[in-house]
Amino acid sequence: MERPAQRLEDIVIGHGVKELQVISTVAVVGQGYVGLPLAMGAVGAGFDVIGLDLDESRVKRLVAGDSFIEGILSSELGVALETGRYRPTSDWATAADFDVCVITVPTPLREGVPDLSYVEEAGKSVAALLRPGALVVLESTTYPGTTDQVLQPILEEGSGLVAGEDFFLGYSPERIDPGNETWGLANTPKVVSGIDEESLARTETFYGAFVEQVVSVSTTRTAEMTKLLENTFRHVNIALVNEIASVSPALGVDIWEAVEAASSKPFGFMKFTPGPGVGGHCLPIDPSYLLWQVRQTSRSDIRMIAAANDINDHMPDYVVRRAQAGLNERGLPVNGAKVLVLGLAYKKNVGDIRESPALAVVKLLLDLGADVHAAEPYLGAAMMPAGVASVDLGEEELSWADVVVLLTDHDAFDYDLVANTASYVLDTRNRCSGPQVERL
Ligand SMILES: NC(=O)c1ccc[n+]([C@@H]2O[C@H](COP(=O)([O-])OP(=O)(O)OC[C@H]3O[C@@H](n4cnc5c(N)ncnc54)[C@H](O)[C@@H]3O)[C@@H](O)[C@H]2O)c1
Repeated sequence: MERPAQRLEDIVIGHGVKELQVISTVAVVGQGYVGLPLAMGAVGAGFDVIGLDLDESRVKRLVAGDSFIEGILSSELGVALETGRYRPTSDWATAADFDVCVITVPTPLREGVPDLSYVEEAGKSVAALLRPGALVVLESTTYPGTTDQVLQPILEEGSGLVAGEDFFLGYSPERIDPGNETWGLANTPKVVSGIDEESLARTETFYGAFVEQVVSVSTTRTAEMTKLLENTFRHVNIALVNEIASVSPALGVDIWEAVEAASSKPFGFMKFTPGPGVGGHCLPIDPSYLLWQVRQTSRSDIRMIAAANDINDHMPDYVVRRAQAGLNERGLPVNGAKVLVLGLAYKKNVGDIRESPALAVVKLLLDLGADVHAAEPYLGAAMMPAGVASVDLGEEELSWADVVVLLTDHDAFDYDLVANTASYVLDTRNRCSGPQVERL
């Protein structure tokens, strides 16, 4: 059923005067893991939302009500489309009358160097449509200074308008955690910022329409750093527990039991668990944005990030060495060994294999001459890495394998079946137990 768009009208205070902020049309640039949930949130708040994406195949699926993002059900997408207020498109002209534009495009690393080309391209397209009074917010994860030093000049040059006078500019980092059923866009506090007082006020008003709590900070650079600090904190702590895990067997210590026991401390300890490395769009990339910028601007270093990168990058080697040692004990070389890998995604219950350490483990095994099969319920056979047979987890596959390497602990796997059927399990996630199971 079509419902009319809401007009959000709010008084914002800037330059000492009160002005009326009107939001009725929101353009969200990029309809991926971050942009699509945001678009759904804005539709839910009653806005007219244009979901822009260059990828025609993504747009076609969205128009057909077929979601490709965990956390957004196709039924939810269908409800948004039914309102008539969500329009996925690759046609920028459709977004000509936006009041708010949020940019959620990728910010990858290319050989250790931040690649801001997507932000720059999106900025140029936004600038061409920018009108006086509009608000632009960057959400892509990036280093401090991107909003005011990179995006602002592009927007000003392309539009002929002045930021803070003619249009408003903010930065708000995304905290979306794909697959997390407890914390979503609405109930996760959202950090917001603006290049000046009025931009901040407008950014607060916009997100306040569909996020329960906004947390304002004084500059866009602080907001950019907030996101990098959060992800660097996780990256470094995962590296710490990974390094301790890799020395524990020689000490006769079960790291999982030690982590569990330490977690009973009600203060001063936060639980992080070991694993085969880090993956996804955040941990392998975001801390390196910060490291790169610090090295560029102040010729200093963040040694903790460099060390964490090194430790986490080497976890796939460690996993393969452990599998190699376990096979050796059974009189088997890795060359020609039958290896069943469970899970390729970088974390459980999602199908995202970007930067997944499982891919590095598989490559090392293939290079050593192993015969690798993989069960990954979230990926079609077409998405399997070259040289890997896609299989379903079952008794036959488990009995075939010389070693089962559990890399991603999807809830869909039957762990009792794995522990009771396989002759040797190397469990990097602490999901199996039994005489044939060896944990990381
Ligand atoms: N995935 C996450 O969990 C997560 C969490 C927090 C922050 N982030 C950050 O958010 C940003 C986006 O990440 P994502 O995971 O949503 O990426 P994604 O690849 O899933 O989606 C980005 C989309 O932007 C589109 N795009 C690129 N350039 C465009 C342009 N000029 N115009 C229109 N569309 C364009 C791409 O086609 C793609 O569909 C990144 O900076 C990322 O670091 C991601």
